[in-house]
Amino acid sequence: MSNLLEKARSYETEKLIHMDLDKKPLFHISAPTGWINDPNGFSVYDGKVHLFYQYYPYDKVWGPMHWGHSVTTDMICWEQLPVALAPDQEYDKIGCFSGSAIEAEGKHVLVYTGVTKIKLDDGSEQERQNQCIAFGDGKDYVKYENNPVVTGEMLPEGCSRIDFRDPKIWKEDDTYYLIVGNKNDRQIGQVVLCSSKDLKDWKFETVLAANETGKIGTMWECPDFFRLGDKHVLICSPQDMKAQKYEFHNGHNSVYFLGDYDSETHKFEKEAPHALDYGLDFYAPQTTELADGRRIMIAWMKSWDACVIPNSQDWQGMMTLPRELSLEDGKIRQMPVREIEKYRKNPCKYEKAEIDKETTLSGIEGRTIDLTVELKDNDFMIFSMKLASNKEYETKFTYHKTDRMLEIDRTYCGVTKDIVCVRKIKIADPAGLKKMRFILDRQSIELFINDGQQVATTAICTPLEAQEIHFFSDSKIQVNVEKYDIRCEMAHTTICSK
Ligand code: FRU
Repeated sequence: MSNLLEKARSYETEKLIHMDLDKKPLFHISAPTGWINDPNGFSVYDGKVHLFYQYYPYDKVWGPMHWGHSVTTDMICWEQLPVALAPDQEYDKIGCFSGSAIEAEGKHVLVYTGVTKIKLDDGSEQERQNQCIAFGDGKDYVKYENNPVVTGEMLPEGCSRIDFRDPKIWKEDDTYYLIVGNKNDRQIGQVVLCSSKDLKDWKFETVLAANETGKIGTMWECPDFFRLGDKHVLICSPQDMKAQKYEFHNGHNSVYFLGDYDSETHKFEKEAPHALDYGLDFYAPQTTELADGRRIMIAWMKSWDACVIPNSQDWQGMMTLPRELSLEDGKIRQMPVREIEKYRKNPCKYEKAEIDKETTLSGIEGRTIDLTVELKDNDFMIFSMKLASNKEYETKFTYHKTDRMLEIDRTYCGVTKDIVCVRKIKIADPAGLKKMRFILDRQSIELFINDGQQVATTAICTPLEAQEIHFFSDSKIQVNVEKYDIRCEMAHTTICSK
C-alpha cells in the first residue's frame, strides 16, 4: 500500500472517532470526513452494492482526489470501507477523478480518470486526463502496472486531451465498452465510445453523442449509457449550460437523452434533452443495474456553486437517495429505492385532513421522515408547505395552481452565504400537482412530484430542533397525509480498518 493511501486511511479512521454523527444524514451517504463529490464505481460485486466517491479527506473543500468507499445490501444502511484509491502514481498525481466499476472474472475492476501534468516542448506544463484501471477484492485495489489504458492520443484530431474524463464501463456479450466525457476544440461537449476484449487493450470506436445544437453546455462530464424499457438513455452533466424556459436552471446541469442505439454500428439517435432534477442540489448522477433488473441512480446532492453547510461543520458533501428509474410516456420516472419502506416506522396518517389557512397536523413533523401529501381535486389557488421549520427557520414549497408553478424557497433554512435559494418548477402533468412525496434526512429534502414524474433535490442547513411542518391553503381544502419516521443504523458508522 502506498504511503498516500495509508495516510488517508489512518486519517479517516482517526477522524471518525470524533465525528458528531447525530448531525449527519441518517440514511444518505455523506462525507466520512472532509469533502466528497461525484458518486463513482456504483456497482454490484460479490452480491453487495458498492459505491465509491470523489473524496478529499483532509479538508471540507475540493482537493487532490481520492476514492472513498461504502458498501450496502439494501442501499439505505451503508457501511464505510477504507479509502480505495489515492493519487499516488505519476499518471494520477493530480487526482483520481471520477469513474465506474464492473465485476470481471471474480475481480472488482475500477475504471477512473488519472489526472497528471506533462511538460510541453516550450517548457510549460499542461494537464492530461487519461483512463486507468485498478483490480480489487471489494476492499483493497491494485492499480494496473500498464496504466493508463485509454489515452487522449487515441482520440481523433480536435478532441481535447485535457478534458477527457469520467469513464463509465459496461459489458455486452464478450466486449467491454467505455464512454468518456470529452469536448472538442470548438468547446462542443461530447461523449466518446471505446471498446476492449480484456479491459487492458482499448480502441476508440466513435463519438457516441455531441452537443450539435451548441445549447447543451460545454464539457460533458460524467456520462452514463444504458437500456431502459425499449429505449437507450444517455445521461451526462454538461458544464456551463444556459437555462431554457422551465428547464436546466443549475448552470452545471444533469440531463438525459432518450434514443435508439444500434449496437452494431454504435449509432445513437438521440432525442431532445430533459432535466433529471428540478431542485437546487443535484449533479453527476451515476446508475447501476441490480440483479433483479432494476436500474438505480444516485447523484451528488450539491451544486458546485453553492455551499449549504453551517460554518461550524467540518465536512461537506452528501449523495441523494438511490432512485429507481423507469420509463413512462417518453420520460424517465424516478422513485425512492423501495428498500426504504423496510425502515418506515410510526405511521401517522390523515384521510381528508382539513387545511384552512395556516394549519399543523398533530404528529406530522420530523427531520428523518418519508412524507406523502395528496392534494386531490381541491379548489384552491395557492397551497404551500413549510418543512424543517420553527419560528426562525423554514424551507417553503408553494404551488400556484393557475400556472402550475411550484416554488422552492430555502432562504430561511439557515444559509449564511449569498447563494441561489429559490427555484421554480413548472409541473409537467397538465392535471397539475396531485401528489408530493418528501424524503427528509436532516440536511436535505428530496421531493418526488406526482409519483416521480419530476424530482427536486435541495440541501438545507437547518438546526435539527426545527422539526415542524406547516400547511397553508388560500381556501378550505382536504388532503391526505401519510408520514413515517425513518429509523435505521446511521450510514457510515463503521470505523474503517486500516
Ligand atoms: C464532476 C467532476 C468530474 C471530475 C470530478 C473531479 O463533478 O468535475 O468531471 O472527474 O468532478 O472531482
